[in-house]
Amino acid sequence: MLSSTFLGLAAGIAGAQALSTGFNYGATKSDGTFMAQSDYESRFTRAQSLQGTNGDFTSARLYTMIQGGTTADPSSAFQAAIDTKTSLLLGLWCSAGQEVVTNELNALEAAIKQYGSDFTDLVIGISVGSEDLYRVSPTGIENKSGLGATPDELVSYIKQTREKISGTSLSGASLGHVDTWTAWVNGSNSAVTDEVDWLGMDTYPYFESTENNPIDNGKQLYWDAYDKTNSVGGGKEVWITETGWPVSGKVSGQAVASVDNAETYWQEVACAIVGKYNVWWYTLEDSIPTTPNPSFGIIGSDLNSAPLYDLTCKKGSSATATTEKGSSATKPAGAGGLHGVGSGPYGSNGTMSGVAGNGTASGITTTATRGGSSPTGGATTTGAAGGPGGAPSGTARGAPFASQTQNAAVRAGPVVGAGIMAMVGLVVAL
Ligand SMILES: *[C@@H]1O[C@H](CO)[C@@H](O)[C@H](O)[C@H]1NC(C)=O
Ligand SMILES: *[C@@H]1O[C@H](CO)[C@@H](O)[C@H](O)[C@H]1NC(C)=O
Ligand SMILES: *[C@@H]1O[C@H](CO)[C@@H](O)[C@H](O)[C@H]1NC(C)=O
Ligand SMILES: *[C@@H]1O[C@H](CO)[C@@H](O)[C@H](O)[C@H]1NC(C)=O
Repeated sequence: MLSSTFLGLAAGIAGAQALSTGFNYGATKSDGTFMAQSDYESRFTRAQSLQGTNGDFTSARLYTMIQGGTTADPSSAFQAAIDTKTSLLLGLWCSAGQEVVTNELNALEAAIKQYGSDFTDLVIGISVGSEDLYRVSPTGIENKSGLGATPDELVSYIKQTREKISGTSLSGASLGHVDTWTAWVNGSNSAVTDEVDWLGMDTYPYFESTENNPIDNGKQLYWDAYDKTNSVGGGKEVWITETGWPVSGKVSGQAVASVDNAETYWQEVACAIVGKYNVWWYTLEDSIPTTPNPSFGIIGSDLNSAPLYDLTCKKGSSATATTEKGSSATKPAGAGGLHGVGSGPYGSNGTMSGVAGNGTASGITTTATRGGSSPTGGATTTGAAGGPGGAPSGTARGAPFASQTQNAAVRAGPVVGAGIMAMVGLVVAL
């Protein structure tokens, strides 16, 4: 009893800690080239100095812990985070099978040894997987979002992660999984919900093209997704791991991508949730050096340029944060295309040049096989890897890695998805 009381207390204290606010960062840039330490550092620094945000954006969510171009070296984002005092929501890429998960865990182990508490003190939590369940759902498959993972596989990976960190200074770290809200509300995935400490929710009203999704209804769709996810979490915290509205790109249902609409979504959603939940917005930038379609970047193609719209939260616009806004949840979960598809951490196609992912047709048609891929396109491959970061233009924000045998575009997807949509768009355009 006593110990469980103390556990409860500890959890309460942890829950009372300052909430994290940040952005999502892929392992590759929008052209598929790998992010280097200096790339992470310049972005983390820029995030902290964003006009209108009071320096709140001090956290980084990563899709993989493996440095691009290597098999299992720790991400150079870690040193950049240490140097810029950026907190970390770590992520393991889980849609490429056990071998890559093992490499992820080896990279984590190496980082703990190499950086010690400078690193572990920054860790807010660890996400075991990203949208893997979405990608094996009918919508994900229909949208060619790439390889995913089953609930059983994810449960195994979560257990492996707990085991790996036990006895280290990260022992007891908060473990979660990130997926679309539609995956969380799918009862067939409840084993994952049971296994995690928190639920990471990705939601993009823009991509919900089968819903009434003009910007005017964006806020409502956001809260519907939150409420539905929250309702299946059994009291576990819901962390907002991805949401945002594109500044440019094609129309999606009734959703128009524009700077004005991105600003509206920021005022109505970001301003309502930042500081009240753990939030990793999508995203700081996705257009350096190439601009995807749709593009979600708050700043354009110049890291040092001003934000494309005013990020200052206006009184009243946010404050309404009606967390539990009665969900007008009328549609069955899983209907409709949640948000795109993904791209993923792995990028596009595992060719060598690192051009990865510009979403050419091949990315869509190639059949991916899981075997032997190496997450970051690394060592054993020539791979270019696409990226977790990118998005629309096929560089999708995605995927952290690429593999040598398959077309990363297909398996990519870690992130949300703009990738495929974008790819589809590209194909059409082509
Ligand atoms: C629900 O989840 C299971 C297991 O991940 C998946 O196979 C199934 O396709 C999902 N159903 C829907 C409607 O998303
Ligand atoms: C995904 O598929 C659904 C269902 O077929 C569709 O309505 C939606 O528009 C698609 N989403 C994307 C991002 O392509
Ligand atoms: C995609 O990348 C290939 C290889 O670099 C390039 O030839 C092609 O023009 C790119 N396509 C687009 C649409 O950017
Ligand atoms: C990767 O994409 C390029 C450009 O579309 C294509 O030429 C190449 O065949 C693809 N590689 C694989 C392995 O699919």
